[in-house]
Amino acid sequence: MSTKLANEPTAASAAEDRPILDVTNLKMYFPVKSSGLFRRTVGHVQAVDGVSFRVQPGQSLGLVGESGCGKSTTGRLITRLHEPTGGTIDFEGKDIAKVSAGKLKPLRRDIQMIFQDPYTSLNPRHTVGSIIGAPLAIHGIVPKSKILPRVQELLEIVGLNPEHYNRYPHEFSGGQRQRIGIARALTLQPKLLVADEPVSALDVSIQAQVINLLQELQDEFGIAFLFIAHDLAVVRHFCPEIAVMYLGKIVEIADRDTLYSRPHHPYTQALLSAVPDVKQAQVGGRRERIRLQGDVPSPINPPSGCRFRTRCPLAQEICARVEPPLLQIGPKHKVACHFPGELGQHPSKPVTPGLLGVDSTGLPDPAAGPAAELSVGSGYSDTWFDLANNTMGGKA
Ligand SMILES: Nc1ncnc2c1ncn2[C@@H]1O[C@H](COP(=O)(O)OP(=O)(O)O)[C@@H](O)[C@H]1O
Ligand code: SF4
Ligand SMILES: [Mg+2]
Repeated sequence: MSTKLANEPTAASAAEDRPILDVTNLKMYFPVKSSGLFRRTVGHVQAVDGVSFRVQPGQSLGLVGESGCGKSTTGRLITRLHEPTGGTIDFEGKDIAKVSAGKLKPLRRDIQMIFQDPYTSLNPRHTVGSIIGAPLAIHGIVPKSKILPRVQELLEIVGLNPEHYNRYPHEFSGGQRQRIGIARALTLQPKLLVADEPVSALDVSIQAQVINLLQELQDEFGIAFLFIAHDLAVVRHFCPEIAVMYLGKIVEIADRDTLYSRPHHPYTQALLSAVPDVKQAQVGGRRERIRLQGDVPSPINPPSGCRFRTRCPLAQEICARVEPPLLQIGPKHKVACHFPGELGQHPSKPVTPGLLGVDSTGLPDPAAGPAAELSVGSGYSDTWFDLANNTMGGKA
């Protein structure tokens, strides 16, 4: 009999915190075409490959990983700048994954995006007033005469001089331009903001100011955020929950305290070792920079089994044969690794064979029993895999 490790919340908890965004098994495969006259599809870039997460109303989820791991593609799928290859994107109870382009207009109001580069994301030939006011005109939300006052109000909200609506983007500094981008995203009073590395292009001294502004906006307007960043330092103060991505997949997701003090995935541990003043407690406060070997492999031909295995200091045979499932190991903690454990305390034997019906090298093993039906869903269950005794014994 197969065991079901569902990650479905109970009815009560579902009612308590119904997510504004619930993404399940999201996939985006970009076709790779041959050159020449008949451009045949010769492969796919598996940019996003089975990603699931939730965002609660007015809350922030951080999405972190090295360049090329699929963060922006995930953001662009949620704002439906791309149509996903597979999976569902439940926004306020409605699956928007396959909504046709013509029916996306209401969605464009509710979900907005802030882009990384404040230099290229604003049209240099338009005044700030027309950049910020354009969505109001397009959606016909306020009468023409009210557009300017609303633009001035928005400029004030983001900390810019309301009298500067007639200026052009080049007349502003990088930090000010990002504020203009934020004002534009706020114009339609969105419920969800996808912020794609909103401070990565800014000077360190300006980064904190822009993050503080986003925090104030969240507190004031109750906006939910998917906050994308390439390192764990930036999201630390902004996001109560963080997902770590590697080559198109989430490898670890947890609440902030768990992720920063007890990460269980070797990749998260390596990323965290680069963050100043975070001590991975389990090694007695010792903090050593973990340097990852080699480059990120191509998402066109990702490694078999665990995609991180070509760079993982702990990789064993099973890692090449079997993909580790994203397994819930605590109340708000999931990890995709055959050897999950705190830094320096990873188990010597894989914990997953009993769930996957394989032996400790990853070969099929009838004695291990049939593979469990592992959930690919978002959210957390009330029961989880207890690492202390390798059973589904954990309970809230
Ligand atoms: N429109 C596209 N067509 C083909 N490949 C793409 C496209 N957009 C992104 N990719 C590829 O998908 C992968 C993930 O990219 P991206 O989501 O931009 O990563 P990140 O934002 O984490 O740096 C990369 O290998 C990138 O080259
Ligand atoms: S499954 Fe194996 S290769 Fe992947 S992170 Fe865990 S130990 Fe490393
Ligand atoms: Mg990106």
